[in-house]
Amino acid sequence: MRWWQEAVVYEVYVRSFADSDGDGVGDLNGIRGRLGYLELLGVDALWLTPFYRSPMVDHGYDVADPRDVDPLFGDLESFDALLAEAHRRGMQVVVDLVGNHTSTEHEWFRGAVESAPGSPERARYHFRPGRGRNGAEPPNNWRSVFGGPAWTHVPGPGGEPGEWYMHLFTADQPDLDWTNPEVWADTEKTIRFWADRGVDGFRIDVAHGMAKPETLPDDLRQPGWTPLGHRDNDPRFDDPGVHDVHRMIRAVLDHYPGRMAVGEVLVGDDEAFARYVRPDELHQAFGFRLLHAPFEADAVRAAIDRTLATFAGVGAEPTWTLANHDVPRAVTRYGGGDVGTARARAMALVVLALPGSVYLYQGEELGLPDVELAEEAVQDPSGRGRDGCRVPMPWDAEPPGYGFTTGAAWLPMPQEYGRLTVAAQLEDVGSTLSLYRRALELRANHPGFAGDAVEWYGAPPGCFAFRRSASTLVCALNASSVPVPLPPGDVLLTSVPLVDGELPPNAAAWLT
Ligand code: GLC
Repeated sequence: MRWWQEAVVYEVYVRSFADSDGDGVGDLNGIRGRLGYLELLGVDALWLTPFYRSPMVDHGYDVADPRDVDPLFGDLESFDALLAEAHRRGMQVVVDLVGNHTSTEHEWFRGAVESAPGSPERARYHFRPGRGRNGAEPPNNWRSVFGGPAWTHVPGPGGEPGEWYMHLFTADQPDLDWTNPEVWADTEKTIRFWADRGVDGFRIDVAHGMAKPETLPDDLRQPGWTPLGHRDNDPRFDDPGVHDVHRMIRAVLDHYPGRMAVGEVLVGDDEAFARYVRPDELHQAFGFRLLHAPFEADAVRAAIDRTLATFAGVGAEPTWTLANHDVPRAVTRYGGGDVGTARARAMALVVLALPGSVYLYQGEELGLPDVELAEEAVQDPSGRGRDGCRVPMPWDAEPPGYGFTTGAAWLPMPQEYGRLTVAAQLEDVGSTLSLYRRALELRANHPGFAGDAVEWYGAPPGCFAFRRSASTLVCALNASSVPVPLPPGDVLLTSVPLVDGELPPNAAAWLT
C-alpha cells in the first residue's frame, strides 16, 4: 500500500488559509503555524495550490517562475520549513504543477513577444498568423474557458499585422506548445526541483489540456459552449498526444520512490478519462462525479458505481471529492441553510466510507457555505464568482479577520463566519468539525474500512446502504423526506443524532 492509495488529502488554498504577516493574504508561514490543526483533524497529506512567482492574475495559476516562491507567500526557506514541519508531523505534501500555460510575465513569454515570428522564442508557445484581411481575425474560433476568444494579437514591431497567441484561460496565461522539447525539459526540471526538496506529490493542473491537435481545427460544436463548461469532442482538450506528456511525468517520478501525481482531468467520457490513470501515466485523477451529483440516493449511488468501475477498469484506485477552489461549496450546492449543512455532513460520511482516497477542500470540515460577495469585491478573472468558495478560513471569533489575518482579508469575511470558526467548533461535539475529526479517526483506525469494492443492500425509497467488500462497515444514507429504520448493526457514527432510533432525512450513518 502506497501512502496515497487511501489517503485523505486536504487542499490548502494558500491565499486563504492563514496569514502570518498581516497583509490580508495567506502565506507559507501561516500554514506552518496551523499544521497542528491539520494534524488534529487527522488528514494524511496537504495539497498546496500554486505559491510560485506570479502576477496573480489567476491567483497563482499564472506562473512567472515555477521554481521560486512568490514574495507574497514567502520564500524557498519558508517552503522548506513548512515541508519539514509537515513531514515531522507525519503529513505528506503535494504541490501544483501548472504545465498547460505560463504567465505572460514568464521570461520565455517576454522573450517571445520581443522576438520575430518563426523564432525559437515564439516556438515555445502557440503563435500563429491571423485569418482574414490583414490577419485581423484570430487563427481559429476557440474560446477561452473564462470567456472571449482564446487568442490575443501581438502587433508587429512597426505596428503592422503581427501574430496571435493562444490562451485557453486568461490572456495573461499563454498556452505552452508541448511539441517543443524545451517545454518538456523545463517541466522535468521543475518536477525534479521540488521532488529534490522532498515534495511527495504533484497535482497536475489542466491535465487534459497540454497537447493540442496539430492543425488547430475550429471548434465545430461551439453553439454548446458555456464559460467554465466542459464537454467531450472539444478540440481544445483531451488530444491523444497528452498521454505522452503524462508518461513523461510518470517516468520522472518513478525515479523518486514514494512520489505521486494526481491529475485534474475534466473529461466526461469514462473510457477517455480512465486513460489518464493507466499504469504508466498518472497515479490518480480527481473523481468529480459525486461533486456533480444532486443529493438523491439513486444519483449518488450511480455516481459511486460509475466511478468505481471507471478506475477499476485500468487498475487504479478511485478518488473522491465534494469540493475544491473552483466550484460552489457543498453546503450551498445542496440547498444552503440547515438542509444544505445536514446534506453536506451526510455526504461527508458517504465519501469517507468509500475505498480509495478522498480530497477535502479547506473549510469543508467547518461546513462553510459559499459567500455571496458584492460585485465590487469579486476578484476571480473568470468573473463567475469562484471567489464565493475562496473566502479565507475563520479561525476564531475576532472580526473582521477571524484569526485569518490581523489586516484586511483579501476577500471580505462575512459575519456568519463568526459562528463557524475553528475555535467554536473544536469545543462543540455536535459541530461539523467534530464530525470530520471522528470520521477521519475511525477511517484511519477502525478495521471496517477494508476492501476495494462496495456491496449494495436493499433500502427504502430515497435511501441506500452499502458495505465495504472485505469488512463489516456499512454506510447508510437517507436522502428521502421521512425517517427510516437503520440496517442491523452497531452504530459507529451518525451525521446527526438519531430520532427514536431512526435515521432522519438528510442524514447518514456508519454501522458495523
Ligand atoms: C485549473 C485550476 C483553476 C485555474 C485553471 C487555470 O482548473 O483549478 O483554478 O483557473 O486551472 O490554470
